[in-house]
Amino acid sequence: MDLDFFKQYLIHFIVLCVTVIGLIYVRYKTLVTKNIPPGRKGLPFIGETWDYIMAARRGTPAKFITDRMSKYSSDIFRTSLLGEDMVVLCGASGNKVLFSGYDKYIISWWPYTFKKILMDPSGVGNSANDEAAKMRSFLPQFLKPDSLKSYIPVMDSVAKEHLQKEWSLCKEVKVFALSKKYTFALGCRLFVSVDDPKYVAKLAEPFAQVMAGLFSLPINLPGTPYNRAVKAGRRIREELKALITSRKMELSTEDNNHNHNSKNPGGKMDLLTNMILDGLDATEISNKIGGFFIANHDSASAAITFIISYLADYPDVYRKVFQEQMEILKAKGEREYLNWQDVEMMKYSWCMACEVLRLLPPASGTFREAIQDFTYAGYTIPKGWKACWNVYTTHNNPKYFPEPEKFDPSRFEGNGPPPFTFVPFGGGPRMCPGKEYARLQILVFMHNIITKFKWKKLIPDEEIKFIGSPFPAKGLPVSLETIQI
Ligand code: HEM
Repeated sequence: MDLDFFKQYLIHFIVLCVTVIGLIYVRYKTLVTKNIPPGRKGLPFIGETWDYIMAARRGTPAKFITDRMSKYSSDIFRTSLLGEDMVVLCGASGNKVLFSGYDKYIISWWPYTFKKILMDPSGVGNSANDEAAKMRSFLPQFLKPDSLKSYIPVMDSVAKEHLQKEWSLCKEVKVFALSKKYTFALGCRLFVSVDDPKYVAKLAEPFAQVMAGLFSLPINLPGTPYNRAVKAGRRIREELKALITSRKMELSTEDNNHNHNSKNPGGKMDLLTNMILDGLDATEISNKIGGFFIANHDSASAAITFIISYLADYPDVYRKVFQEQMEILKAKGEREYLNWQDVEMMKYSWCMACEVLRLLPPASGTFREAIQDFTYAGYTIPKGWKACWNVYTTHNNPKYFPEPEKFDPSRFEGNGPPPFTFVPFGGGPRMCPGKEYARLQILVFMHNIITKFKWKKLIPDEEIKFIGSPFPAKGLPVSLETIQI
């Protein structure tokens, strides 16, 4: 009896060993015959994720990329991040291949750990590609040129109100926290028509927790930043669902009262109304609007923060931006808000903002998934592997930006940098749909801050940290002086 049991056990053990060895062999053969890009897979399961996190913590996420480009290949290298086999395509041609190959040989991909925070559990298994396509189908109405033009006076009034309330009474402020307050309040006003400051503050809290956990180690145990982010994601969706219910009631009451065909009965043709009228259910709307808020959250505020920082560091650049913005201000009436023509005149200011986005891009890159084998620079990227583009393969590259460490907004004058080299918003069909919205909110803020205040950095060489986006370690404290015009 005992001997039979031992034999059975032995047979199972041998079958298991043969299967494992077979799988390793097949994988090895596949990799060798397919000429996989050079690089390292790193440790089991976590791959090189820890190396990336540590590089970012040390303030040098670019080094993770540039070290591997010099060690393996300046075109492409393999790594393993977030438990996935991954390749990083580098340089302008690498970006071009990923941006233009969309739906041909690659599709969108987001890590499961992100989706677990950002989506209702019912949607976590959905393909990131389908979700992104759905999200985009609701954006044209909200982000079409006429809508964007109509947001400029609102952005201006929110900026003015914000500066009056949060800056003008202070001698010193911390820029990062305040710019987040401005971009979040603006998002609340324009995405979901909420402007009650108490409610805005209540909603802001879980978003901050999501941002802190999104880029932490994905250990879902009580007390970890990741676990707090998962819970905060749930709270956000609950808050948004409550908003959806009350908006649906408003819409049906208005509709019954007026019984007309208008698609905008409540007068609030924001993202929320758009999605309700298009028939999306509450779970999908809360996933999508939550994602939209997240995309807006740290990105534009990081850009605004570092614009203010560089303006303090470069007096010549400051003078040119100041002059441009003062001319616009002087041409306007007392109580007139900014409009499209005004923003179109902010050419140098946008060059300056672009140079900040080049040196400190809020998003370092995103992921794609190969839906078939494809070749790049002589190497094969196997179907199912993840591919990623990264700003640091071009933004800091002297081949595209001579003396890349130098802060020089004039790089963006005239024709600007070569195609596929300046990519803070990505590129191709998956390019950030909020790019124009971001440009407007940044320029409107620049106009208001530079025509009202002069500022000095209180910590001249403040350390820059990275958790997803870059941020000043101490929040960029500045002293303020009101300008008398
Ligand atoms: C300076 C500010 C911003 C930067 C640097 C930025 C950058 C990016 C980047 C790099 C991507 C990924 C593109 C790709 O995968 O190729 C992205 C996606 C996205 N961004 Fe932005 N973004 C900014 C502001 C905004 C704002 C203000 C909004 C909303 C109004 C927004 C909405 C989105 C959305 C919804 C996506 C996902 C699109 C998809 O999955 O297809 N972004 N953004």
